[in-house]
Amino acid sequence: MTGSAVAARGVSKAFNGVLALRDVSFGVAPGEARGLIGENGAGKSTLIKILSGALRPDSGTVEVAGEPVHFTSPHGALEQGIGTVHQRNFLVPSLTVLENVELGYERQRTPLGWLDRRPREGSVEALAFVGLEHRLQTPVGAISLADRQLVAIARALSRGSRLMIFDEPTAVLSPVESAYMFDVIERLRAAGTALIYVTHRLEELPRVAAAITVMRDGEIVADADPSLPARDLVELMAGHDAVVHEDAQRAAAQRRARSRPADTSPLLTVNGLSDRDGAFRDVDFALGRGDIVSLVGLPDSGVTQLVAAISGARRPHAGEIRIDGRRVSVRSPRGAIRSGIGYVSGDRGQKGVIPNFSVRRTATLSSLDRVSRFSVIGPAADARLASRFLEQCQVRAASSGMSITALSGGNQQKALVARMLAAEPRVLVFEDPTAGVDVAGREALYDLVAACCERGHAVLWTSSDLREVTTVCDRALVLWRGTVVREIDRDDLTVRALMSAQFNQTDTP
Ligand SMILES: Nc1ncnc2c1ncn2[C@@H]1O[C@H](COP(=O)(O)OP(=O)(O)OP(=O)(O)O)[C@@H](O)[C@H]1O
Ligand SMILES: [Mg+2]
Repeated sequence: MTGSAVAARGVSKAFNGVLALRDVSFGVAPGEARGLIGENGAGKSTLIKILSGALRPDSGTVEVAGEPVHFTSPHGALEQGIGTVHQRNFLVPSLTVLENVELGYERQRTPLGWLDRRPREGSVEALAFVGLEHRLQTPVGAISLADRQLVAIARALSRGSRLMIFDEPTAVLSPVESAYMFDVIERLRAAGTALIYVTHRLEELPRVAAAITVMRDGEIVADADPSLPARDLVELMAGHDAVVHEDAQRAAAQRRARSRPADTSPLLTVNGLSDRDGAFRDVDFALGRGDIVSLVGLPDSGVTQLVAAISGARRPHAGEIRIDGRRVSVRSPRGAIRSGIGYVSGDRGQKGVIPNFSVRRTATLSSLDRVSRFSVIGPAADARLASRFLEQCQVRAASSGMSITALSGGNQQKALVARMLAAEPRVLVFEDPTAGVDVAGREALYDLVAACCERGHAVLWTSSDLREVTTVCDRALVLWRGTVVREIDRDDLTVRALMSAQFNQTDTP
């Protein structure tokens, strides 16, 4: 702890009597990059919120360069050079990149009494460090999520950058964007910044961290080496023999060898589907019963809009969607559910979580018809249905009556998946469903999905993690500027093949 740039000393924090952190002492030295891992609900976010001034500890202290500090807001921590990079950062979309970095600085007056509107030297330098010097005057609303993360880095960097905390930044980034982020992280570390990197993607750790702190149930339980096999890290996190499969590749092979439904005829058929804004054009494909198919493409490929059209969030301009040969109209997410199409997104902040709902209501929201069948709207049926799916999805909640927003990020995500599964859709559409979900939870979901397919359902899966695509899916459809340009079958489905199919396209075939 001595020599730490920033440290927590004996910190405890409870929410409504439930202890989220118990007497935690933790510090990071200048130029040190430390991974912070633990299962969903272990206390990682609570700890970093305390270090970055977003939460106050019930007891214990935060120290900056060995001196106790009392942050009253994230801004106070930022002024000390403590910045946090979230998946989505709290920036002001209508302000420019430069204005966001300079937000909170007092403007000086010139001798003539004018406000000095020149950019501060430190701001421009910080934006150059992350490679955004050419976007100073671009509104933040017009830049990508990846660039917004870079703005958040520059904001802390311009204030001295003592500690930079990364909370699963790559969960929303493409592989190319992630690689750039790793490069920025390494340059920050080399320049003497202390770094905390929170992730559930254990394979990233050797690239970004030299040491790992493992949390479990609100306590620090181990220090580990990033090169430890994933299985050992998972065991440290779980506190018992790893429930994950020994070997992810073997587990994937087993899932693929799952028994197929007797009838594998097309379940979902998409014919000539076109978007009114041209995001995708004339898309045709079919999912057979038992199929798990991925849609893959760069950010401008139209994958997002196509998924939105199939799940009822965006009205296509032409074409049709059929289930079991019958044309269905999915004019809204509710309409999609009624037609047998379920949807879940990893973007739970924007789509899905209804703040004041309990965990239980969240889980049964899409299946109220089933719960209230025979007019037994009884809370017993509701609770039974909810608890079955919450358990299957490994949601860890103090009680199912608590508010969904009081759950840790990964547990909220699992609850949304439980809600989708509880409605028993015939076609399951997943958009980055494992964002923020711990290793064991991910494996559980893959198994649940495989089981649905054995029963004859079909799955459409997109993910920012291409490795996940290769372990979960039977087939991938690659989109390029709005059209399907390649289909990659199971035998050729590798990360390399997916990467090259996305990039090696020419404009005029
Ligand atoms: N605002 C809150 N109100 C009530 N309980 C909370 C609140 N925030 C966190 N908790 C509880 O504190 C515990 C730790 O949550 P925390 O968000 O720190 O976990 P985490 O390690 O970040 O998990 P994840 O990997 O899912 O993000 C959990 O039991 C969670 O339910
Ligand atoms: Mg968290």
